[in-house]
Amino acid sequence: MANNDSKKYKLGMIGLGTMGRNLLLNMADKGFSVTGYDKDRKMISKLEEEGKKHNLEGFDDIESFISSLETPRTLILLVPAGPIVDSVIAELKPLLSKGDIIIDSGNSHFTDTNRRVDELEKDGLHFFGMGISGGEEGARFGPSMMPGGDKQAYNVVKDVFDAVAAKVGTDPCVTYIGPGASGHFVKMVHNGIEYAIMELIAEVYGILKNGLGYSNSDIYQVFKKWNEGRLQSFLLEITAEIFLFKDTETQNDLLDQIKDEARSKGTGKWTSEVSMELQLPVPTINEAVSNRDLSKFKKLRVSLEEAFGKKDTKIAVTVDELEDAFYFSMISAYAQGMHLLVQASKEYQYDLQLQEIAKIWRGGCIIRAKFLEDIYQAYDKNNALEHLFGDAGIQNIIKGTLSGTRKTISACINSGLGIPAFASTLTYFDTITTARMPSNLIQAQRDFFGAHTFERIDKDGVFHADWNKLS
Ligand code: 6PG
Repeated sequence: MANNDSKKYKLGMIGLGTMGRNLLLNMADKGFSVTGYDKDRKMISKLEEEGKKHNLEGFDDIESFISSLETPRTLILLVPAGPIVDSVIAELKPLLSKGDIIIDSGNSHFTDTNRRVDELEKDGLHFFGMGISGGEEGARFGPSMMPGGDKQAYNVVKDVFDAVAAKVGTDPCVTYIGPGASGHFVKMVHNGIEYAIMELIAEVYGILKNGLGYSNSDIYQVFKKWNEGRLQSFLLEITAEIFLFKDTETQNDLLDQIKDEARSKGTGKWTSEVSMELQLPVPTINEAVSNRDLSKFKKLRVSLEEAFGKKDTKIAVTVDELEDAFYFSMISAYAQGMHLLVQASKEYQYDLQLQEIAKIWRGGCIIRAKFLEDIYQAYDKNNALEHLFGDAGIQNIIKGTLSGTRKTISACINSGLGIPAFASTLTYFDTITTARMPSNLIQAQRDFFGAHTFERIDKDGVFHADWNKLS
Protein backbone atom coordinates (compact mmCIF):
# COMPACT_ATOMS: atom_id res chain seq x y z
CA MET A 1 0.00 0.00 0.00
CA ALA A 2 1.36 3.42 -0.91
CA ASN A 3 1.72 6.06 1.76
CA ASN A 4 -1.39 8.09 2.33
CA ASP A 5 -0.15 11.57 3.27
CA SER A 6 -3.41 12.75 4.75
CA LYS A 7 -3.61 9.94 7.30
CA LYS A 8 -1.35 9.50 10.30
CA TYR A 9 -1.62 6.37 12.36
CA LYS A 10 -1.25 6.18 16.14
CA LEU A 11 0.69 2.94 16.12
CA GLY A 12 2.52 0.67 13.69
CA MET A 13 3.11 -3.06 13.95
CA ILE A 14 6.22 -4.64 12.47
CA GLY A 15 5.73 -8.32 11.71
CA LEU A 16 2.29 -9.33 10.49
CA GLY A 17 2.46 -13.04 11.30
CA THR A 18 -0.51 -14.41 13.25
CA MET A 19 0.47 -12.80 16.57
CA GLY A 20 1.22 -9.35 15.11
CA ARG A 21 -1.83 -9.42 12.85
CA ASN A 22 -4.13 -10.52 15.65
CA LEU A 23 -2.88 -7.85 18.02
CA LEU A 24 -3.32 -5.23 15.32
CA LEU A 25 -6.87 -6.42 14.59
CA ASN A 26 -7.58 -6.28 18.32
CA MET A 27 -6.38 -2.64 18.39
CA ALA A 28 -8.47 -1.77 15.35
CA ASP A 29 -11.54 -3.35 17.00
CA LYS A 30 -10.99 -1.00 19.93
CA GLY A 31 -11.10 2.00 17.59
CA PHE A 32 -7.39 2.85 17.27
CA SER A 33 -5.96 3.96 13.96
CA VAL A 34 -3.19 1.46 13.38
CA THR A 35 -1.20 0.05 10.51
CA GLY A 36 1.35 -2.67 9.89
CA TYR A 37 4.52 -3.47 8.03
CA ASP A 38 5.82 -6.76 6.71
CA LYS A 39 8.33 -7.56 3.98
CA ASP A 40 6.04 -10.37 2.87
CA ARG A 41 3.13 -9.03 0.75
CA LYS A 42 1.09 -12.15 1.55
CA MET A 43 0.99 -11.10 5.20
CA ILE A 44 -0.24 -7.64 4.21
CA SER A 45 -2.98 -9.15 2.07
CA LYS A 46 -4.06 -11.29 5.02
CA LEU A 47 -4.18 -8.22 7.27
CA GLU A 48 -6.19 -6.25 4.73
CA GLU A 49 -8.57 -9.18 4.24
CA GLU A 50 -9.12 -9.88 7.94
CA GLY A 51 -9.27 -6.15 8.76
CA LYS A 52 -11.70 -5.29 5.96
CA LYS A 53 -14.35 -3.83 8.23
CA HIS A 54 -11.80 -1.34 9.62
CA ASN A 55 -10.21 -0.58 6.22
CA LEU A 56 -6.91 -1.73 7.70
CA GLU A 57 -3.95 -1.26 5.40
CA GLY A 58 -0.39 -2.43 5.53
CA PHE A 59 2.96 -1.49 4.03
CA ASP A 60 5.81 -3.47 2.50
CA ASP A 61 7.91 -0.33 2.14
CA ILE A 62 9.45 0.64 5.47
CA GLU A 63 9.99 4.33 4.68
CA SER A 64 6.37 4.96 3.71
CA PHE A 65 5.30 2.94 6.76
CA ILE A 66 7.37 5.06 9.14
CA SER A 67 6.26 8.35 7.63
CA SER A 68 2.62 7.29 7.95
CA LEU A 69 2.86 7.35 11.78
CA GLU A 70 2.05 10.14 14.24
CA THR A 71 5.00 11.44 16.24
CA PRO A 72 6.35 10.41 18.61
CA ARG A 73 6.12 7.21 16.63
CA THR A 74 5.10 4.05 18.41
CA LEU A 75 6.22 0.80 16.87
CA ILE A 76 5.52 -2.70 18.12
CA LEU A 77 7.83 -5.45 16.95
CA LEU A 78 6.32 -8.93 16.74
CA VAL A 79 9.18 -10.75 15.05
CA PRO A 80 11.06 -13.87 16.21
CA ALA A 81 13.34 -13.22 19.21
CA GLY A 82 17.08 -13.12 18.60
CA PRO A 83 19.17 -11.55 15.82
CA ILE A 84 16.08 -10.62 13.75
CA VAL A 85 15.14 -8.06 16.42
CA ASP A 86 18.59 -6.45 16.05
CA SER A 87 18.39 -6.38 12.27
CA VAL A 88 14.91 -4.79 12.33
CA ILE A 89 16.18 -2.16 14.79
CA ALA A 90 19.17 -1.43 12.54
CA GLU A 91 16.81 -0.93 9.60
CA LEU A 92 14.54 1.35 11.61
CA LYS A 93 17.10 3.52 13.38
CA PRO A 94 17.99 5.90 10.50
CA LEU A 95 14.27 6.52 9.91
CA LEU A 96 13.33 7.40 13.49
CA SER A 97 13.57 10.61 15.54
CA LYS A 98 14.25 11.37 19.21
CA GLY A 99 11.37 10.37 21.48
CA ASP A 100 10.08 7.57 19.24
CA ILE A 101 9.18 4.33 20.99
CA ILE A 102 10.04 0.78 19.91
CA ILE A 103 8.28 -2.01 21.78
CA ASP A 104 9.66 -5.53 21.39
CA SER A 105 6.81 -7.91 22.14
CA GLY A 106 8.55 -11.19 21.39
CA ASN A 107 10.01 -13.56 23.98
CA SER A 108 13.42 -11.86 23.97
CA HIS A 109 15.99 -12.65 26.62
CA PHE A 110 16.00 -9.82 29.15
CA THR A 111 19.76 -9.32 28.81
CA ASP A 112 19.27 -8.61 25.08
CA THR A 113 16.59 -6.12 26.05
CA ASN A 114 18.97 -4.43 28.53
CA ARG A 115 21.55 -4.05 25.78
CA ARG A 116 19.00 -2.65 23.32
CA VAL A 117 17.61 -0.18 25.88
CA ASP A 118 21.14 1.17 26.45
CA GLU A 119 22.06 1.28 22.76
CA LEU A 120 18.89 3.10 21.72
CA GLU A 121 18.94 5.50 24.65
CA LYS A 122 22.07 7.03 23.10
CA ASP A 123 19.93 8.00 20.08
CA GLY A 124 17.13 9.35 22.25
CA LEU A 125 14.89 6.39 21.39
CA HIS A 126 12.79 4.56 23.98
CA PHE A 127 13.08 0.80 23.81
CA PHE A 128 10.51 -1.31 25.61
CA GLY A 129 10.54 -5.02 26.30
CA MET A 130 6.94 -6.17 26.58
CA GLY A 131 6.02 -9.76 27.32
CA ILE A 132 2.69 -10.79 25.85
CA SER A 133 0.97 -13.94 26.96
CA GLY A 134 -2.10 -15.73 25.73
CA GLY A 135 -1.07 -17.10 22.34
CA GLU A 136 -2.87 -16.26 19.11
CA GLU A 137 -6.33 -16.16 20.70
CA GLY A 138 -5.06 -13.90 23.45
CA ALA A 139 -3.49 -11.46 20.98
CA ARG A 140 -6.77 -11.29 19.04
CA PHE A 141 -9.23 -11.00 21.93
CA GLY A 142 -7.27 -9.97 25.03
CA PRO A 143 -3.78 -10.93 26.14
CA SER A 144 -1.97 -10.28 29.40
CA MET A 145 0.76 -7.70 28.72
CA MET A 146 3.94 -6.99 30.66
CA PRO A 147 5.60 -3.77 29.42
CA GLY A 148 8.81 -2.46 30.98
CA GLY A 149 10.81 0.63 30.10
CA ASP A 150 10.62 4.42 30.34
CA LYS A 151 7.47 5.38 32.32
CA GLN A 152 6.73 8.56 30.33
CA ALA A 153 6.98 6.69 27.06
CA TYR A 154 4.63 4.06 28.50
CA ASN A 155 2.04 6.75 29.16
CA VAL A 156 1.95 7.51 25.39
CA VAL A 157 0.60 4.01 24.65
CA LYS A 158 -1.12 3.21 27.92
CA ASP A 159 -4.62 3.82 26.51
CA VAL A 160 -4.03 1.34 23.65
CA PHE A 161 -2.73 -1.37 25.99
CA ASP A 162 -5.53 -0.85 28.53
CA ALA A 163 -8.08 -1.20 25.75
CA VAL A 164 -6.71 -4.36 24.09
CA ALA A 165 -5.64 -6.33 27.17
CA ALA A 166 -7.84 -9.06 28.67
CA LYS A 167 -10.12 -7.85 31.47
CA VAL A 168 -10.89 -9.36 34.84
CA GLY A 169 -14.07 -7.52 35.78
CA THR A 170 -13.09 -4.06 34.61
CA ASP A 171 -9.36 -4.45 35.45
CA PRO A 172 -7.15 -4.62 32.35
CA CYS A 173 -4.49 -7.35 32.43
CA VAL A 174 -1.68 -4.93 31.75
CA THR A 175 0.37 -2.72 34.01
CA TYR A 176 3.60 -0.80 33.86
CA ILE A 177 6.05 -3.41 35.16
CA GLY A 178 9.16 -1.32 35.83
CA PRO A 179 12.29 0.11 34.23
CA GLY A 180 14.72 -1.49 31.78
CA ALA A 181 14.14 -5.08 30.83
CA SER A 182 11.73 -5.81 33.70
CA GLY A 183 8.84 -6.55 31.30
CA HIS A 184 10.76 -9.31 29.57
CA PHE A 185 12.09 -10.57 32.89
CA VAL A 186 8.59 -10.95 34.31
CA LYS A 187 7.38 -12.68 31.11
CA MET A 188 10.30 -15.10 31.35
CA VAL A 189 9.31 -16.02 34.93
CA HIS A 190 5.70 -16.36 33.77
CA ASN A 191 6.96 -18.96 31.30
CA GLY A 192 9.02 -20.70 33.99
CA ILE A 193 5.84 -21.10 36.04
CA GLU A 194 4.05 -22.24 32.86
CA TYR A 195 6.66 -25.01 32.40
CA ALA A 196 6.27 -26.09 36.04
CA ILE A 197 2.49 -26.31 35.92
CA MET A 198 2.51 -28.13 32.58
CA GLU A 199 4.97 -30.67 33.99
CA LEU A 200 2.86 -31.14 37.14
CA ILE A 201 -0.26 -31.73 35.02
CA ALA A 202 1.70 -34.21 32.88
CA GLU A 203 2.78 -36.04 36.04
CA VAL A 204 -0.85 -36.13 37.24
CA TYR A 205 -1.72 -37.70 33.87
CA GLY A 206 1.02 -40.29 34.45
CA ILE A 207 -0.33 -41.04 37.94
CA LEU A 208 -3.95 -41.34 36.78
CA LYS A 209 -2.98 -43.51 33.84
CA ASN A 210 -0.16 -45.68 35.19
CA GLY A 211 -0.87 -45.48 38.92
CA LEU A 212 -4.67 -45.69 38.96
CA GLY A 213 -5.35 -47.28 35.57
CA TYR A 214 -7.67 -44.51 34.32
CA SER A 215 -8.63 -44.28 30.63
CA ASN A 216 -8.38 -41.03 28.68
CA SER A 217 -12.08 -40.39 29.07
CA ASP A 218 -11.84 -41.03 32.86
CA ILE A 219 -8.99 -38.52 32.98
CA TYR A 220 -11.08 -36.00 31.06
CA GLN A 221 -13.78 -36.34 33.73
CA VAL A 222 -11.28 -35.84 36.56
CA PHE A 223 -9.71 -32.73 35.00
CA LYS A 224 -13.09 -31.30 34.07
CA LYS A 225 -14.34 -31.69 37.64
CA TRP A 226 -11.14 -30.26 39.12
CA ASN A 227 -11.44 -27.29 36.82
CA GLU A 228 -14.80 -26.45 38.37
CA GLY A 229 -13.22 -25.97 41.80
CA ARG A 230 -10.17 -24.37 43.39
CA LEU A 231 -7.86 -25.69 40.64
CA GLN A 232 -9.67 -23.74 37.91
CA SER A 233 -7.09 -22.62 35.37
CA PHE A 234 -6.56 -22.18 31.66
CA LEU A 235 -3.98 -24.98 31.49
CA LEU A 236 -6.26 -27.49 33.21
CA GLU A 237 -9.19 -26.46 31.03
CA ILE A 238 -7.33 -27.01 27.74
CA THR A 239 -5.73 -30.19 29.07
CA ALA A 240 -9.15 -31.70 29.81
CA GLU A 241 -10.15 -31.09 26.19
CA ILE A 242 -7.02 -32.81 24.87
CA PHE A 243 -8.26 -36.11 26.35
CA LEU A 244 -11.37 -36.03 24.15
CA PHE A 245 -9.66 -35.15 20.88
CA LYS A 246 -9.72 -37.82 18.16
CA ASP A 247 -7.09 -38.32 15.48
CA THR A 248 -8.79 -37.97 12.10
CA GLU A 249 -6.42 -40.51 10.50
CA THR A 250 -6.56 -43.38 12.98
CA GLN A 251 -9.72 -42.46 14.95
CA ASN A 252 -7.65 -43.12 18.09
CA ASP A 253 -7.27 -40.48 20.77
CA LEU A 254 -4.77 -38.06 19.23
CA LEU A 255 -2.84 -37.85 22.51
CA ASP A 256 -1.93 -41.54 22.22
CA GLN A 257 -0.48 -40.95 18.77
CA ILE A 258 1.90 -38.21 19.97
CA LYS A 259 5.55 -39.03 20.74
CA ASP A 260 6.54 -38.69 24.40
CA GLU A 261 9.35 -36.24 23.58
CA ALA A 262 8.70 -32.64 24.60
CA ARG A 263 10.28 -29.62 22.99
CA SER A 264 10.97 -26.09 24.15
CA LYS A 265 12.06 -22.72 22.87
CA GLY A 266 14.12 -21.85 25.92
CA THR A 267 12.26 -19.45 28.20
CA GLY A 268 11.96 -22.10 30.94
CA LYS A 269 15.68 -22.81 30.75
CA TRP A 270 16.40 -19.07 30.99
CA THR A 271 14.33 -18.91 34.20
CA SER A 272 16.38 -21.75 35.70
CA GLU A 273 19.64 -20.17 34.57
CA VAL A 274 18.74 -16.80 36.09
CA SER A 275 17.62 -18.46 39.31
CA MET A 276 21.08 -20.03 39.62
CA GLU A 277 22.63 -16.65 38.84
CA LEU A 278 20.56 -14.97 41.55
CA GLN A 279 21.03 -17.95 43.89
CA LEU A 280 17.28 -18.21 44.37
CA PRO A 281 16.04 -21.81 44.08
CA VAL A 282 13.08 -22.68 41.83
CA PRO A 283 13.31 -26.50 41.89
CA THR A 284 9.86 -27.21 40.44
CA ILE A 285 10.70 -25.08 37.41
CA ASN A 286 14.13 -26.72 37.15
CA GLU A 287 12.56 -30.18 37.18
CA ALA A 288 10.11 -29.16 34.49
CA VAL A 289 12.96 -27.99 32.26
CA SER A 290 15.07 -31.10 32.98
CA ASN A 291 12.21 -33.47 32.40
CA ARG A 292 11.46 -32.03 28.95
CA ASP A 293 15.14 -32.66 28.21
CA LEU A 294 15.03 -36.18 29.67
CA SER A 295 11.99 -36.98 27.54
CA LYS A 296 14.13 -36.62 24.42
CA PHE A 297 16.34 -39.58 25.40
CA LYS A 298 13.74 -42.02 24.09
CA LYS A 299 16.09 -44.75 22.90
CA LEU A 300 18.03 -44.70 26.15
CA ARG A 301 14.82 -44.86 28.19
CA VAL A 302 13.57 -47.81 26.17
CA SER A 303 16.81 -49.74 26.61
CA LEU A 304 17.01 -48.96 30.33
CA GLU A 305 13.43 -50.08 30.90
CA GLU A 306 14.45 -53.38 29.34
CA ALA A 307 17.54 -53.56 31.56
CA PHE A 308 15.79 -52.77 34.84
CA GLY A 309 12.41 -54.28 34.03
CA LYS A 310 8.99 -52.67 33.71
CA LYS A 311 7.71 -51.52 37.11
CA ASP A 312 4.36 -52.31 38.62
CA THR A 313 3.32 -48.73 39.22
CA LYS A 314 -0.18 -49.35 40.58
CA ILE A 315 -0.80 -47.23 43.67
CA ALA A 316 -3.59 -46.89 46.22
CA VAL A 317 -4.43 -43.21 46.51
CA THR A 318 -7.74 -41.44 46.01
CA VAL A 319 -8.41 -38.79 43.38
CA ASP A 320 -9.01 -36.31 46.22
CA GLU A 321 -5.55 -37.02 47.66
CA LEU A 322 -4.06 -36.52 44.21
CA GLU A 323 -5.98 -33.25 43.91
CA ASP A 324 -4.39 -32.11 47.18
CA ALA A 325 -0.94 -32.99 45.84
CA PHE A 326 -1.54 -31.06 42.65
CA TYR A 327 -2.95 -28.02 44.45
CA PHE A 328 -0.03 -28.01 46.90
CA SER A 329 2.54 -28.29 44.09
CA MET A 330 0.84 -25.70 41.92
CA ILE A 331 0.88 -23.22 44.83
CA SER A 332 4.57 -23.99 45.35
CA ALA A 333 5.37 -23.41 41.68
CA TYR A 334 3.77 -19.96 41.77
CA ALA A 335 5.47 -19.27 45.11
CA GLN A 336 8.90 -20.10 43.65
CA GLY A 337 8.30 -17.86 40.62
CA MET A 338 7.14 -14.96 42.81
CA HIS A 339 10.15 -15.47 45.10
CA LEU A 340 12.43 -15.18 42.07
CA LEU A 341 10.69 -11.92 41.14
CA VAL A 342 11.23 -10.57 44.66
CA GLN A 343 14.94 -11.34 44.43
CA ALA A 344 15.32 -9.97 40.88
CA SER A 345 13.53 -6.79 41.87
CA LYS A 346 16.15 -6.19 44.57
CA GLU A 347 19.09 -7.23 42.42
CA TYR A 348 18.14 -5.29 39.28
CA GLN A 349 16.26 -2.40 40.99
CA TYR A 350 13.07 -3.20 39.10
CA ASP A 351 10.81 -2.08 41.97
CA LEU A 352 8.34 -4.80 40.98
CA GLN A 353 4.86 -4.59 42.45
CA LEU A 354 4.07 -8.25 43.03
CA GLN A 355 0.38 -7.59 43.69
CA GLU A 356 0.08 -5.85 40.32
CA ILE A 357 1.85 -8.71 38.54
CA ALA A 358 -0.45 -11.29 40.17
CA LYS A 359 -3.38 -9.07 39.20
CA ILE A 360 -2.51 -8.95 35.49
CA TRP A 361 -1.86 -12.70 35.41
CA ARG A 362 -5.46 -13.40 36.55
CA GLY A 363 -6.66 -13.10 32.95
CA GLY A 364 -5.43 -13.43 29.37
CA CYS A 365 -2.19 -15.31 30.03
CA ILE A 366 -1.34 -19.01 29.87
CA ILE A 367 -0.92 -19.34 33.66
CA ARG A 368 -4.21 -17.62 34.52
CA ALA A 369 -5.87 -19.47 37.36
CA LYS A 370 -8.34 -18.98 40.16
CA PHE A 371 -5.44 -19.26 42.62
CA LEU A 372 -3.90 -16.04 41.26
CA GLU A 373 -6.64 -14.20 43.13
CA ASP A 374 -5.21 -15.64 46.38
CA ILE A 375 -1.69 -14.58 45.34
CA TYR A 376 -2.97 -11.11 44.48
CA GLN A 377 -4.70 -10.82 47.86
CA ALA A 378 -1.57 -11.98 49.72
CA TYR A 379 0.69 -9.37 48.07
CA ASP A 380 -1.98 -6.70 48.17
CA LYS A 381 -2.14 -7.15 51.96
CA ASN A 382 1.63 -7.04 52.25
CA ASN A 383 3.65 -6.05 49.20
CA ALA A 384 6.89 -6.64 51.12
CA LEU A 385 6.02 -10.35 51.52
CA GLU A 386 9.24 -12.26 50.91
CA HIS A 387 7.68 -15.62 50.11
CA LEU A 388 4.09 -16.65 49.47
CA PHE A 389 4.43 -19.37 52.15
CA GLY A 390 4.75 -16.50 54.66
CA ASP A 391 1.11 -15.46 54.15
CA ALA A 392 -1.26 -16.79 56.84
CA GLY A 393 -4.05 -17.53 54.35
CA ILE A 394 -1.72 -19.50 52.07
CA GLN A 395 -0.35 -21.36 55.11
CA ASN A 396 -3.86 -22.52 55.98
CA ILE A 397 -4.47 -23.72 52.43
CA ILE A 398 -1.15 -25.62 52.39
CA LYS A 399 -1.76 -27.24 55.78
CA GLY A 400 -5.04 -28.64 54.44
CA THR A 401 -3.29 -30.29 51.48
CA LEU A 402 -0.26 -31.85 53.18
CA SER A 403 -1.67 -35.21 54.23
CA GLY A 404 -2.97 -36.04 50.72
CA THR A 405 0.22 -34.68 49.18
CA ARG A 406 2.52 -36.84 51.30
CA LYS A 407 0.40 -39.92 50.75
CA THR A 408 0.33 -39.45 46.98
CA ILE A 409 4.01 -38.63 46.56
CA SER A 410 5.26 -41.41 48.83
CA ALA A 411 3.01 -43.96 47.08
CA CYS A 412 4.46 -42.94 43.70
CA ILE A 413 8.02 -43.14 44.99
CA ASN A 414 7.42 -46.56 46.55
CA SER A 415 5.99 -47.94 43.33
CA GLY A 416 8.66 -46.47 41.02
CA LEU A 417 6.38 -43.98 39.28
CA GLY A 418 8.55 -41.09 38.08
CA ILE A 419 7.26 -37.77 39.47
CA PRO A 420 10.29 -35.45 39.53
CA ALA A 421 8.37 -32.18 39.82
CA PHE A 422 6.07 -33.44 42.59
CA ALA A 423 8.92 -35.01 44.56
CA SER A 424 11.21 -32.01 44.36
CA THR A 425 8.36 -29.65 45.24
CA LEU A 426 7.58 -31.51 48.44
CA THR A 427 11.19 -31.74 49.48
CA TYR A 428 11.63 -28.02 48.72
CA PHE A 429 8.71 -27.33 51.04
CA ASP A 430 10.12 -29.59 53.75
CA THR A 431 13.48 -27.84 53.52
CA ILE A 432 12.28 -24.26 53.38
CA THR A 433 10.13 -24.95 56.46
CA THR A 434 13.09 -26.35 58.43
CA ALA A 435 14.78 -23.95 60.83
CA ARG A 436 18.10 -25.84 61.05
CA MET A 437 19.32 -27.57 57.91
CA PRO A 438 22.27 -29.97 57.82
CA SER A 439 24.27 -27.35 55.89
CA ASN A 440 26.54 -26.75 58.90
CA LEU A 441 28.24 -29.98 57.83
CA ILE A 442 28.93 -28.57 54.37
CA GLN A 443 30.66 -25.57 55.95
CA ALA A 444 32.73 -27.92 58.10
CA GLN A 445 33.71 -29.99 55.04
CA ARG A 446 34.68 -26.86 53.08
CA ASP A 447 36.80 -25.64 55.92
CA PHE A 448 38.37 -29.11 56.38
CA PHE A 449 39.62 -29.52 52.83
CA GLY A 450 39.97 -25.92 51.69
CA ALA A 451 40.22 -23.68 54.77
CA HIS A 452 37.16 -21.80 53.49
CA THR A 453 36.21 -20.84 57.06
CA PHE A 454 32.83 -21.05 58.78
CA GLU A 455 30.60 -18.91 60.97
CA ARG A 456 29.59 -19.94 64.51
CA ILE A 457 26.16 -19.89 66.11
CA ASP A 458 27.51 -18.44 69.38
CA LYS A 459 29.71 -15.53 68.24
CA ASP A 460 30.27 -13.24 65.24
CA GLY A 461 33.19 -13.51 62.81
CA VAL A 462 34.68 -16.18 60.57
CA PHE A 463 36.62 -19.14 61.94
CA HIS A 464 38.89 -21.90 60.79
CA ALA A 465 39.60 -25.16 62.59
CA ASP A 466 42.64 -27.36 62.26
CA TRP A 467 40.52 -30.39 61.36
CA ASN A 468 43.53 -32.67 60.74
CA LYS A 469 44.42 -32.51 64.39
CA LEU A 470 41.19 -34.36 65.18
CA SER A 471 42.74 -37.75 65.68
C1 6PG B 1 2.53 -17.42 26.30
C2 6PG B 1 3.44 -18.57 25.97
C3 6PG B 1 4.18 -18.30 24.69
C4 6PG B 1 4.80 -19.54 24.05
C5 6PG B 1 5.88 -20.16 24.85
C6 6PG B 1 6.09 -21.61 24.51
O1 6PG B 1 2.67 -16.91 27.39
O2 6PG B 1 1.68 -17.07 25.46
O3 6PG B 1 4.37 -18.75 26.98
O4 6PG B 1 5.09 -17.27 24.95
O5 6PG B 1 3.79 -20.45 23.76
O6 6PG B 1 7.05 -19.48 24.57
O7 6PG B 1 7.29 -21.96 25.05
P1 6PG B 1 8.06 -23.29 24.73
O8 6PG B 1 8.10 -23.45 23.24
O9 6PG B 1 9.42 -23.07 25.30
O10 6PG B 1 7.29 -24.37 25.40
